[in-house]
Amino acid sequence: MSHTQVAIIGAGPSGLLLSQLLHLNGIDTVVIERQSRRHVEGRIRAGVLEQGTSELLIEAQVGGRMLKERLVHEGFGLGFSDRSFRVDLKGLSGAAVSIYGQTEVTKDLMDARTAAGARLVFEAADVSVAGFETAHPTVRYRHEGRIHELTCDYIAGCDGYHGVCRRSVPAGALQTFERAYPFGWLGVLADVPPATEEILYSNHARGFAMCSMRSLTRSRYYIQCGVDEAIEAWPDSRFWDELRARLPASVAASVVTGPSIEKSIAPLRSFVVEPMRFGRLFLVGDAAHIVPPTGAKGLNLAVADVRVLYQALAERYRTGRADALERYSERCLRRVWKAVRFSWWFTTIMHKFSDEPFAHRLQLAELDYLTGSTAALTSVAENYVGLRFDAP
Ligand code: APR
Ligand code: PHB
Repeated sequence: MSHTQVAIIGAGPSGLLLSQLLHLNGIDTVVIERQSRRHVEGRIRAGVLEQGTSELLIEAQVGGRMLKERLVHEGFGLGFSDRSFRVDLKGLSGAAVSIYGQTEVTKDLMDARTAAGARLVFEAADVSVAGFETAHPTVRYRHEGRIHELTCDYIAGCDGYHGVCRRSVPAGALQTFERAYPFGWLGVLADVPPATEEILYSNHARGFAMCSMRSLTRSRYYIQCGVDEAIEAWPDSRFWDELRARLPASVAASVVTGPSIEKSIAPLRSFVVEPMRFGRLFLVGDAAHIVPPTGAKGLNLAVADVRVLYQALAERYRTGRADALERYSERCLRRVWKAVRFSWWFTTIMHKFSDEPFAHRLQLAELDYLTGSTAALTSVAENYVGLRFDAP
């Protein structure tokens, strides 16, 4: 049996960043992850960091490579009616976003945690959490054939949507809110120069498409597809043809094709659990909320939760006061719901929901209104770069 102050379940960006920030505040953690380190480091996810996210990575002393390698984007594009409109994020909101893959963020965090001698347990099986409604929570898991028990002061459930923590809270103590969308995103990563300088989201009668990138030589593209479609039905050539068909012609002409180095289909959903704390168990990131990727809020929301939680834990260990911990759920949920709303809205105006021409005309009218109104654009820009943090 061993002890730590904060047991962290899950070594995704939430768990690793929380571990790193607590370490810098003199708080001991153990991170317990179901998958192998290789698996965690290899996952391809989104790549847009809000300014507040980049700032927290810097504060966590893991921003060095990000600052060198990131692309700073002061705008993004909206494609519709065969034209491309630039949303001037900087001019409208004063802020910009950083293009830096979540895969790279995870690597940087992993390296920093390893260098500091952190206790990270990979390939932990049968992880279970208990006792969090008392002052003595415990975590049990099997590792290399042996059962381990870890006692702790607090548990951070950073184990994603499919994790064990949320499911361990007694039925009836949590309320969930959910919306599934009738489509998914088919994503392709390829070592070809991006078609656009900035990210472009395109509304098209055939369905949504988008152009993104990881660097000046690596592109990330997505197209809306059916939730049940088989990846085998999408050989590279079909993907490239469909992508080009859904982009404004001038952008389509700039698409450089090449072999895909990753291709996957992800469903789109909105999901929120309330509250995000149950006794001494805190749900963080994807364990508590999921947003559709339109708007790139998933990672940024997770990082915002980590900011609230590490500050509250630091205060608790520094002063003995737990009031900030008590307010964790309420503070996070205010931001979460605003991001859920923005991601839902952006998804709604950019995707094809039906064959009904009326619905598409409404979307085009909304995009036409939006791109002609500084007031409406300012609202979009403010949400895209990340809302200000509410006062504690
Ligand atoms: N025990 C231990 N670890 C677990 C368990 C379990 N029972 N279940 C899941 N995990 C691990 C997963 O293997 C994963 O490494 O928890 C981790 C959760 O990581 P993410 O899913 O990346 O979630 P999070 O860290 O909250 O990251 C924020 O925002 O929108 C997203 O894609 C974005 O992944 C990003 C997320
Ligand atoms: C990505 O680059 O993977 C990406 C960018 C912006 C989004 C979603 C995904 O809104």
